[in-house]
Amino acid sequence: MRTEIMSKLLGIIGYPLGHSVSPAFQQAALDYCGVDARYEAWETPPEGVPQRVQWLRSPEVLGANVTVPHKEAVLPLLEGLSETARRIGAVNTIVNRAGRLEGHNTDVAGFMRALREEGGFDPQGKLVLILGAGGAAKAVAFGLAVAGVARMTIANRTVGRAQELAAAVEAVPQVRAVALTPEALTGDPPWDLIVNTTTLGMAGSPGEGESPLAEAQVPPGALVYDIVYNPKVTPLLATARRAGAHTLGGLPMLVYQGAEAFRLWTGLEAPVEVMFAAARRALWST
Ligand code: ATR
Repeated sequence: MRTEIMSKLLGIIGYPLGHSVSPAFQQAALDYCGVDARYEAWETPPEGVPQRVQWLRSPEVLGANVTVPHKEAVLPLLEGLSETARRIGAVNTIVNRAGRLEGHNTDVAGFMRALREEGGFDPQGKLVLILGAGGAAKAVAFGLAVAGVARMTIANRTVGRAQELAAAVEAVPQVRAVALTPEALTGDPPWDLIVNTTTLGMAGSPGEGESPLAEAQVPPGALVYDIVYNPKVTPLLATARRAGAHTLGGLPMLVYQGAEAFRLWTGLEAPVEVMFAAARRALWST
C-alpha cells in the first residue's frame, strides 16, 4: 500500500483578505520550527463560510484563523468553544482535533501579553479609556476586566454599542458608556491607559489620517495603545507622543495572538522574534 505523505494545511478565513499579514509571519514560524505545513489566505465571502468550515474537518487541515467579518458567524458551526471565546462570542482561531472543531479567542491573550510585556503595564486597579465598541473592543474590555481594572470608560460613535459592551463587563467596579466626542469625554479623572479599537487612523480605511483624540485630551503620564498596526505610527500615537504620553502600536498584539494560535495548532512554543521580523517585513519594508 502506498502511503501519502501530505503536508498539513493552515489558513486564514476572512473577507476581504488583502491586508492580512498572518500568512507571512505564520509561515515563517512553521518553517523555523520545521513543521511541514503551509499557511494560506482563504478569502471566503459570507455565503461560503459553512462550506469552508466543513472543509476544515479534513485530516490534512490543522486549523485556521478567522478574521473580519466572520469571527461571530463561525461560532455555531463548531463542536467546542473555549471559555473566553464563549464569553466574548467571537472566535479567531479554530483547531481541528480529528474532525472535531474547537473555537478559541486568542485576541484577548495577544492584547494582554502585548500590554504587559511591550507596554510594561499592570492593569490592576487602573483607570482605562476604550475607544470603540466593536469586535476588537470586546476582547480588549474582557481582558482588562479580568485583569482587575478599577474604572473603564467606553467611548463609541454609536453610543448604544458602547452601552451594550459596558453592560457585558459587570466585573469592573465603575463602567461608563459615552459618545466619542470631546464633550462626552470630559469629567473623568486622568486615564492611566487609553486603547484605540476603532478603525480611525487605519491605512486604507475611510478614517485614514484621523485621530480619535486631540492632544489636550491625552494625559501626559498615560499609556496610549493603538491596536491598529498600519501605519506604524498612527495619528493617535503621533498625538499621544506630542502630549508626552507613552505609546504602544498594534503589531505586538497581532504577533502574540498569532503566537497563541500557533501553540494551539502545533503544541509548540511560537518563535515570536521570527514572527515579529516576518510581520515587520510584510508590513513596512515593501
Ligand atoms: P472590529 O471587529 O475590528 O472592532 P467593528 O466591529 O466594525 O470592527 O468596529 C469598528 C469600530 O470602529 C466601531 O467602534 C466603530 O464605531 P461604530 O460602532 O459607531 O460603527 C468605529 N469606527 C469606525 N469608523 C469610525 C469613524 N469614522 N469614526 C468613529 N468611529 C469609527
